[in-house]
Amino acid sequence: MKLFLDTAEVKVIEALSETGLVDGVTTNPSLVAKAGGDFFDALAAICRAVAGPVSAEVVATQADAMVAEGERLRRVADNIVVKLPLTFEGLKACRRLKDKGHPANVTLCFSVPQALLAAKAGAMFVSPFIGRLDDIGEDGMALICDIRTAYDNYGLDTQILAASIRSEAHVRQAILAGADAATLPPPWFEAMVKHPLTDKGLAAFLDDWAKSGRGGLV
Ligand code: E4P
Repeated sequence: MKLFLDTAEVKVIEALSETGLVDGVTTNPSLVAKAGGDFFDALAAICRAVAGPVSAEVVATQADAMVAEGERLRRVADNIVVKLPLTFEGLKACRRLKDKGHPANVTLCFSVPQALLAAKAGAMFVSPFIGRLDDIGEDGMALICDIRTAYDNYGLDTQILAASIRSEAHVRQAILAGADAATLPPPWFEAMVKHPLTDKGLAAFLDDWAKSGRGGLV
C-alpha cells in the first residue's frame, strides 16, 4: 500500500520524505492556496523531494482547457499526475490525457458509479473522499470497500487512493479495506508510528541497558 502526503507545504514534504516512507504527494487548489508562494516553483520542489506520483489539480472546468492545463502541469516534472474533478468534462480530459500518455487522478469521488466511470476513463488513481462523506452522515470507509469490490469484480486496474482522511481510524480502515494508497495530512502520517506501548517499552529497554553500565554499541 502506498502512503502519500496530502499537503502542498514544501518544507514539510522535504522533512518527511527523509523517512524514506513517502510514496507520493497529493495537492488540491485549497492546499496550494493555504501554502502560498509560487505554485509552479513549489510543485517543482515537491517533485524533486519525492520520486513517486505528485498529484496537481487543474482549475479549468471544460475538457479542452483541462487538457491544456494538464499538459502544462506535466511539463513541471515526469512524476506529476494530473488531478481532475469527477465531472463529464473531467472524465473527457482524463481519457484524452491518458491517450497522450499523461496519468490522471480523478478526484472528488463519492460513489461507486462515479468510481466506475473514472476507471473507464483510464484514470491511474481515483480519490474517494472518506471524511467528507462522514461529514454528511454517510460511511466514507464503506465506499472504499465497495469500490474495492467493484474494481476486483471487473478487473479494473485504477488504483484506489483513499483521501479526505481525518482520523487514526480512517488510516487503519483504509489499510484494512484494501485501498491501493492513502493520502494523509502530515499529522496523521506522523501519528502512524506512534503507540504508547512502543514508547514505554523503549524507555524500559534503554533504562535497563543504562543500569547495566554498558555504553553504546559502536
Ligand atoms: C486529496 O486528494 C484531497 O484533496 C484531500 O484529501 C481532501 O481532504 P479534505 O476533505 O480534508 O479537504
